[in-house]
Formats: sequence, structure tokens, C-alpha cells
Amino acid sequence: MARTLGAPYSYPMTKPLVVVGSVNADLYVEIERLPRAGETLDGTNAAMRPGGKGANQAAAAARLGQATWFAGQLGTDAFAPALRVALGDAGVKLDHLGMVEGASGQAFILLQHGGENSIIIVGGANQAWGPVSGSLASRIAGAGAVLIQREIPEEVNLAVARLAQQAGVPVVLDAGGADRALGAELLPLISVLSPNETELARLTGLPTATRDDVVAAARSLMRSGVASVLVKLGSRGALLVSGNDAPIEQPAYPVSVVDTTGAGDCFTAAFTVAMLEGQPARNRLVFACSAAALCIQKKGAMPSMPLRIEVDQLVSRHQR
Ligand code: RIB
Repeated sequence: MARTLGAPYSYPMTKPLVVVGSVNADLYVEIERLPRAGETLDGTNAAMRPGGKGANQAAAAARLGQATWFAGQLGTDAFAPALRVALGDAGVKLDHLGMVEGASGQAFILLQHGGENSIIIVGGANQAWGPVSGSLASRIAGAGAVLIQREIPEEVNLAVARLAQQAGVPVVLDAGGADRALGAELLPLISVLSPNETELARLTGLPTATRDDVVAAARSLMRSGVASVLVKLGSRGALLVSGNDAPIEQPAYPVSVVDTTGAGDCFTAAFTVAMLEGQPARNRLVFACSAAALCIQKKGAMPSMPLRIEVDQLVSRHQR
């Protein structure tokens, strides 16, 4: 069955996506402003919402209609059942979702008016990985793409990326989730590296203030072996640098922002889905920016991932 994304393109069924990464209980509180040292403030609307970069990306891809497996680790705490249900409800296949004794990953999210957030992560089960199982290795070998982030141990990402490369499966790495440098062994295994502006500056040690700065920093990552760099520029949109091609830019769609949590995950997942579908590079960016624009209009990370039909409608509206 072919899928359609606005006229005039139609896309074939794709191979599955495998997302390997974190799953977190996102513990929200809404605040007027960040507290100063020693200060106590009132917060409102405290809530647990399912999140974690890996789980968010898996949920986003599944809700966009992509057959998606998630490999991750839950704890044995009270949050674990709700996190599993949220992933299942999004349509994610959970054969590779394991459980380890102790707490699930947690993210303490301070959500400010205007949608900006400050987040503290407690890794929990996300840091308790053993070796990659034979069944996950087979799943990776049969995938159309593998999507990873940086909230699980780097050696797991490296093992996963090596397995993918041996099988000729492209690897997309979302640079979010850790402040550390990326390992030199990992970079040549990556087809698409997706940092935001801050992560790009941190990874390269280069300025990212202007468009030319961003392109130069992206090209410096490509000299380390990454095939292409997809930079998330927040309210300025996104920029894709591949090979010697001219960079492709896509402005963000102006919307009223409720919560930016998970928007980067939504963007990277949507781009990967469009890549799997064989959409042209420009359309991948339009699709991803449309998905992210919908995501930031709702509270929560996993709960705000849009459905395929919503993204298709927004894309068509902008194509008119
Ligand atoms: O990218 C957003 C995610 O970052 C949140 O869901 C939170 O869990 C943190 O991992």
C-alpha cells in the first residue's frame, strides 16, 4: 500500500525503524521563573508525563505511521507500567523493551511560561544496559534505519551503530542527552547527526551565531566522518548539510508555544521517517518542521507527538 504526503509524491511501504535509547518518567512542574539559589517558589500543575529521548522518538515515528521497534530499559518502580502503556498506545513494538531492578529513568522538568524548560535527568534503568542481545542485533540488521540519542551509555550506541553499519543500515544520531564529546569511533558510523545549535557549538568548539557559522561547524563534523548534519535551530527552523551539496534550510512554522519538551525528538524522528520513505531532502525538512510545530503546541513530550494525518494536513496547507 502506498502512502501519500500531499501531491504529487507517493511513497512505498518502508522497512521498519529501530529506535534504541532512553525512556523517562517526566516529572513536570510549571513555574513563573527559575528559582535563585536558596529561594523557594510556588509551582503549579505538577504531573508525570511519559518521556525520554528514545521513547519520544519511537512514539513520534509510530504515530507518523512508521513500523517502529523500541529497545530500552524500564525499572521495576511505579512509573514503569505507565511508561510501557504509553509506548504501546503510540503503536511502538515493545519486544526489545527490557526491565532491570530499581528505578526507571526520571526527568525533572521545570516548565516556564512561553514553553521553555529546564531539565534534570536521573538515568536510572537507562544506564543499566548489558551487551546488545542477539534478537536486537537481528532486528537492527533487518531495519531500514536505526535511530539513537545520548541518554544511554555510549558503548551501547557504538555497538548498535557497528551492527547497523555491518548490515548496511543507516544510523541517525540525535546529539541530545549528554554534554560529553562524541567518540571518534562513533562518528564515521553515522549517516545523519542531528544536534541543536548549542550541541553543535559544544561538539565542535566553534561559534554558531550566524548561518555561515552553523554551516562551517556542521562541515567540521563531516570531516570527522559523519555523512550529513541536520541542525535544529529552534524558532529559526532547521538546516541540512550533506556532502558537497548546498545546505538546505527550512524556516520554522510560527505557532504559539506551550511546551518545547520533546520537539527536537519529534523533529529527528519525523525526518527519519521521511528519509525511510525516500522523500526528497527538502520534503524531509518540511515534514519534520511541521511535526515539531504541532508538538510544541501541547504539554508533555510523548503525549504531544502528532498523528500522521495532522502532519500531512499541515504540510499540505503550507504547500498551497
Ligand atoms: O527531549 C525531551 C526529553 O528529554 C524529555 O522527555 C526528558 O525525558 C528528557 O530526556
